[in-house]
This record gives sequence, structure tokens and C-alpha cells, in this order.
Amino acid sequence: MIIDGKKAAADLRADLKKKIAELKSTYNAVPGLTVLLVGEDPPSKIYVKNKEKFAKEVGMNSEVIRYPENIEETVVLSKIRELNNNDKVSGILVQLPLPKHIDKRKVIETILPGKDVDGFHPINVGNLSSGYDSSIPCTPLGCYLLLKKVEKNLNGKHAIMIGRSNLNGKPMTQLLLKENCTVTIVHSKTKDLKAECSRADIIIAAVGKPKLVKGDWVKKGAIVIDVGINKTDSGLVGDVDFDEVSKIAKAITPVPGGVGPMTIACLLNNTVECFKKVQSK
Ligand code: GUN
Repeated sequence: MIIDGKKAAADLRADLKKKIAELKSTYNAVPGLTVLLVGEDPPSKIYVKNKEKFAKEVGMNSEVIRYPENIEETVVLSKIRELNNNDKVSGILVQLPLPKHIDKRKVIETILPGKDVDGFHPINVGNLSSGYDSSIPCTPLGCYLLLKKVEKNLNGKHAIMIGRSNLNGKPMTQLLLKENCTVTIVHSKTKDLKAECSRADIIIAAVGKPKLVKGDWVKKGAIVIDVGINKTDSGLVGDVDFDEVSKIAKAITPVPGGVGPMTIACLLNNTVECFKKVQSK
């Protein structure tokens, strides 16, 4: 089975569009997402454009604030403080990577946790790891939703998380633990990646190494979620060798068309959740 992330994302957006229309009639207001983009990084520009497009499509207020590469950190921080105090803004996202002269940590920690639609603020990270209500980072949330489409009950499954980043590996591990998986985190210093992978019922690959996971690394019937987006001479490929692994796995996400489309849909979902929390206070 090939897991269709494009369809899952379209379904989620259709759901959100309905929810937003209902919220509008209840509160006479809609969720608002503001994205800050610093500089000219080409992939970031594409991501931000898509975020804006889909936010509008589901009926949100959507705003993108663009700054030149050499903008001073203080300007970005004071804009974030202004947005924190703006009731029309439910969610704030600062597109990463940022130029070196801007302190990413300071930026993330300036966003109000209740408007942190990325789930990167330490308060949200802490709440997620304590099992409390929190914003969940969009990419792992997308992986989680796709995984649950294939397998409702993850109790006791052995999951391998390849990669330990703050963006993916660590939050994904928390989501898997919440589902009662036994989780092994593997990374670049792990001794025998192949042996670790071949024991897993679930493999999540998020390391940015083209076609790292081979067919003979995967147990028959495993579920494989590929977060990798790697540009190669032969086009865009994931961290999983799709041709080999799709013959062995029970279900696998393709690249492109798997996790990627889910990420923005999950961002919109997080923005709606932030809006709802404010309204129900
Ligand atoms: N750049 C690449 N992925 C992400 C993400 O999930 N959030 C933000 N803010 N920037 C990114």
C-alpha cells in the first residue's frame, strides 16, 4: 500500500475549511496565520507561498511579512511582540533557516506559546514530552496522522526513529510513546543501523540521506514513513529506497506526495487549534 499524503492533506484541509466556516458563524471571526520570512532562501520562499495559498483556501486570514536578509534581529523580535498582542493573529510562524546573525532560539522563545503553531517553544516542547496539551510540530504531526491511517492501534509496536532533530525525531518520538510504542532512536553514530531497522514494525526516516533505508533493512509487513526530501541528479528522493522497500513494506509513503503535503495541512490545523483555545477561554 502506498500512503497517499496528497489525498490525506486535501481531506484534512477540507475538514478545516468546514470547521473554520462554523467558527466564523459562532465567533464572527476566523483564525489568522502570520508567517515571517527573512531573506531569499529559494525553498523557504516556495514553502511560505504555499502556506499562504492554503491558509487562504481554507478561509483563514493569512499574512506574510518579508524581510531582507540583512534585517536586524531587534526588528524581527519587536514584530513578533506586536503580533503576540494582536488578537487577529492566532498563529505566528518564523520560517527557518534564519540568517546567522539572527538568534533562532531568541526568535522562537519570543513567540507566545499559545501562538506557536510550529510547536518549537520550550513550553510546548515540555508540554508535549510531559504528555500535556501542546502545539505539535507540523512534520511529525503529519507523520503521525498518516501512520494512524494505516494502523489505528500502535500499542506495543516497535518503532525506529531515524534522526534525532528537534524538528522531527524528538517530537515524533513523543507521539510514538504516547501511542505506547517501544521506540528506538537511531542516528549518525548508531553502530548497526541495518540491524536496528530490521527489528522494527514501524520505521520513520528523517535524516536527509538519499535512499539510506534499503529493502533488506526492512521487516516484511513493516510500515515506513519517509520524511526525507533530497535533491539528487535523478530528481527528488526520500531517505528510503522506495523501489526496494515498497516491495517488502505493508505501507510506505512516497516522496514526493507523502509526508510533504501533510505538513502545511497540519500547520493550518495547529492555527485553528490556537484560535479555538483563545475563543474558549
Ligand atoms: N523550515 C523547514 N521546516 C520548517 C518548519 O516546520 N517550520 C519552520 N518555521 N521553518 C521550517
